[in-house]
Amino acid sequence: AQLQWYPGHMAKAQREIEGRLKLVDMVIELVDARAPFSSRNHTFDRLLKNKPRLVIMTKKDLADPACTQTWIQKFEERGYKAIAVDLKHFKDTNKIIQYCLEILKDKRENEARKGLKPRAIRAMIVGVPNVGKSTLINALAKRKATVTGNKPGVTKAQQIIRVNKDFELFDTPGVLPPKYDDLEIARNVALIGSIKRDILPLDELFIYALSYLNKNYPDALKNRYQLTFDENDNWVLDAYEQIAKVRHLPLLKGEIDYERVQDLFFKDLSDGVFGGITWEKANV
Ligand code: G4P
Repeated sequence: AQLQWYPGHMAKAQREIEGRLKLVDMVIELVDARAPFSSRNHTFDRLLKNKPRLVIMTKKDLADPACTQTWIQKFEERGYKAIAVDLKHFKDTNKIIQYCLEILKDKRENEARKGLKPRAIRAMIVGVPNVGKSTLINALAKRKATVTGNKPGVTKAQQIIRVNKDFELFDTPGVLPPKYDDLEIARNVALIGSIKRDILPLDELFIYALSYLNKNYPDALKNRYQLTFDENDNWVLDAYEQIAKVRHLPLLKGEIDYERVQDLFFKDLSDGVFGGITWEKANV
């Protein structure tokens, strides 16, 4: 497939984030628990490297819990503190602040030893689109947040929110462009909704997803569509037919309405009806 992907976006995002990085003590990087590799932009690792980092795996409720566990281990092996959350039902924002304080504990203790007055730590939330950045900022900010703004180097459009005496954050996130120049990554970011799905031919994406589910989560297809298959010559057409039949989709000019089957499948996927699904394993 021909992937359209614009390096210009990357340069712009890089400049924007570089400017703001100077103003923060640490970065909170959000990744999607359903595709923790593909939903990161690895080009930005170099840029973010010299900042302490908390990795938050969002959409834990939509991911495979066993995979989420191994991904957390993987991030921790790489030296990042990592946690998984369901931001839709997340109340304990204080826990995130505690993790941040812990990550910066040594630095703050050093400053205290030097006789510096303790000050609030300042964090910036970054991540690719749709990973939950705004949801988290809103959750953190709603606790009696006051906008302090007008600090040097902070433009009007980006203000600093004082969440409590120990913690401040930018009220707008750093948006990392998803880097989907690789087909496998493009598939994963399309399946989790970081980019528009139609960046790829939808029939190919549909076939890829069905095949992946069949190998890794066969019960999901069985429960939803009474669909089981071995990948024989005809499995794709059979699968379209079975889904159309089970879900009573009307025919289109006497034929299966293939697009409608795909749309229905992708809607089921977005609605999370298959249970926890993770599209990439930590050991790959
Ligand atoms: P962004 O700023 O990074 O682009 O993401 P944003 O917070 O706008 O979140 C994108 C979508 O993902 C939102 O859904 C949001 O509710 C949902 N979301 C964020 N975190 C989680 C999570 O942990 N679990 C689940 N299940 N969903 C999450 P939306 O479709 O835009 O709106 P709505 O579904 O809330 O109505």
